[in-house]
Amino acid sequence: MRRALKWFGVVIGGLIGLAVVLVAVLVARGSARLSTTYEVQPAAVRIPTDAAAVARGEYLFSAFCAGCHRADLAGGVVIDDPGIGFVPASNLTAGQGGVGGVYSDVDFVRAIRHGVAPDGRPLVVMPSQAYWHFSDDDLGALIAYIKSAPPVDNVPGEVVVKPLGRILIAVGVLDLAANRIAHDAPRPSAPSRGVTAAYGEYLVNVADCRICHGATLSGAQPPEPGAPFAPNLTPGGELAEWRAADFITTIRTGTTPDGHSLDPRFMPWPDYAHLTDDDLTAIFRYLQSLPAVESAGEERH
Ligand code: HEC
Ligand code: HEC
Repeated sequence: MRRALKWFGVVIGGLIGLAVVLVAVLVARGSARLSTTYEVQPAAVRIPTDAAAVARGEYLFSAFCAGCHRADLAGGVVIDDPGIGFVPASNLTAGQGGVGGVYSDVDFVRAIRHGVAPDGRPLVVMPSQAYWHFSDDDLGALIAYIKSAPPVDNVPGEVVVKPLGRILIAVGVLDLAANRIAHDAPRPSAPSRGVTAAYGEYLVNVADCRICHGATLSGAQPPEPGAPFAPNLTPGGELAEWRAADFITTIRTGTTPDGHSLDPRFMPWPDYAHLTDDDLTAIFRYLQSLPAVESAGEERH
């Protein structure tokens, strides 16, 4: 009996020891990713100054950036969790606590397109793996808009990543964009603007729909804890029955044709609601052009 207990103790002790080692290894790997320096010297992008380009930048910002950086560009908290850490989105204006007054044009390109700060530090949470796809024209327009924004004083605070956050980085749940981007790869081609599936694919790339709906858009469990399943968007799922008008109404109101309300904490429809009918139709055309893939997981109903 005693002997058996002793062996039991040894086995449990061993398992706990292994778990401690595994946690320590993962925390160390996450820390190593965070302290990697990326030497990225991006090619310059022309920054326009005309009103049409600034308006184009404002449009893109409202759909893809304001959810985190806020409509006044002054930033705000994205993650505040005792286990994961504190991650504020930067103040992009030239006000106190903002980068606008100190960033050069190339600093903006490096941050947005590559996910890297001027000192080579990888930016946390900032989804540059999606913004890598922005054409030079759209990136230039975004930067033109940011530079035109009125200064707002707001000091968002320093990024702090706690041990659980480091583990999430190590296992790729909270992957650093700088680590995912092939920085020297040739620029992806950018289709011209239009109500086409090709331009819809461009918008799906910059919106990063795949980070939640899965690599083939056939449905996936999003990375955020507590998120509902992100459904199949290919014609293998419910969208096969939708028309473009149904898709536009769903994104504008957050309610699907069958009356289901989409939770805005997990599906950023209030941001995408800023997109024009043409751009939403282009996205819908792209989704309808995909091969019908069977759902990758459990759908609601
Ligand atoms: C999911 C939230 C999120 C979205 C969406 C987002 N950002 Fe960010 N962004 C962040 C966070 C968080 C940081 C700060 C990261 C850090 O300091 O490690 C950041 C940093 C930046 C920086 C670098 C500023 C600095 O402090 O060095 C720029 C520039 C920037 N974002 C621009 C944009 C633009 C332009 C868009 C839209 C195309 C955008 N961001 C969309 C979260 C976001
Ligand atoms: C941050 C994660 C996330 C991103 C990014 C995201 N989605 Fe979603 N989406 C979800 C989740 C989660 C749901 C289910 C929400 C619910 O049931 O409350 C959803 C639901 C939907 C639905 C409703 C589908 C149905 O059958 O009811 C559509 C349509 C949709 N998303 C389209 C898109 C498109 C298009 C994009 C990119 C432009 C996108 N989503 C980006 C998480 C995301």
